[in-house]
Amino acid sequence: MPIEEMEKIWMNGELVPWGEAKVHVLSHALHYGSGVFEGIRCYDTVRGSAVFRLREHLRRLERSARLYYMPVPYSLEELERATHEVIRANGLKACYIRPLVFRGYGEMGIFPMKAPVDAIIAVWPWGAYLGEEGVAHGIRAKVSGIQALDHTSLARAAKASGHYLNSILAKVEVTSCGYDEAIMLNEHGHVAEGSGENIFVVRDGVLMTPLTSDGILEGITRDSVMKIAVSMGVEVRERTLTRSDVVLADELFFTGTAAEVVPIREVDAHFIGEPGPLTLRIQEKFHAIVEGRDEEFAHFMEPVEG
Ligand SMILES: Cc1ncc(COP(=O)(O)O)c(C=O)c1O
Repeated sequence: MPIEEMEKIWMNGELVPWGEAKVHVLSHALHYGSGVFEGIRCYDTVRGSAVFRLREHLRRLERSARLYYMPVPYSLEELERATHEVIRANGLKACYIRPLVFRGYGEMGIFPMKAPVDAIIAVWPWGAYLGEEGVAHGIRAKVSGIQALDHTSLARAAKASGHYLNSILAKVEVTSCGYDEAIMLNEHGHVAEGSGENIFVVRDGVLMTPLTSDGILEGITRDSVMKIAVSMGVEVRERTLTRSDVVLADELFFTGTAAEVVPIREVDAHFIGEPGPLTLRIQEKFHAIVEGRDEEFAHFMEPVEG
């Protein structure tokens, strides 16, 4: 998806013109994937612009950095203020927010500890990641031959740049087969997640999703959807899921910041169906929250100040 250019990017404490937010080609992160990042959304709500669970996203950014020995040069409050500042500076009401903390220029070699740590926050408008049609009628997913990341090879709980080489392999594989998104299995053959989404299965009215120990990113949308479902009186279980659980689901959907809540209507050659009743209720509640029309979860929305 092409990036729509904006005016400014927050870079190492300052707002710089979009075209001047540059790094050296010998930056450590470019060679070794030594960056951690977030994907966050700001919504144009009925009460003004507000960021969805900004604090939780920035906390995860800090945890990701810690897992890869990276001291974040800014406090959580500074990053929070910088996020508000860059949204305002670009005059955006709704946007996608991409903070990135990475090992910069000055050192080569795998040992990262002496390489400087840089930070940027960029914002731009970004629509439905898996398409409006997919949000309304469901997407087609394929179980990928690429294994999800496991806890012994990488710091799985981190949202790190290098991890996405794994996602890229799965995404290219399934899209070249004509599908929209990948479902990745872990080293035990259990369901983990999509290339950039968590997955949920509905069976007999129970909402199920893989455990965090199954090789998934602890999604903030995942957490939000579980809380929404509990508030509706739906039973929610985090448990190991197999490919059969996915194929035999009554309803199936992906969650993620970019994707939001996206029904899956087909897996491999199995037809799951049009978006089911629980998926639709959760989608509806999610939209009410991000549009600022929901009181119960109003605390998920952090108003953009200024
Ligand atoms: C691999 C992966 N899993 C799950 C998610 C969903 O996480 P979140 O809901 O926090 O965006 C993402 C998106 O960031 C992701 O890249």
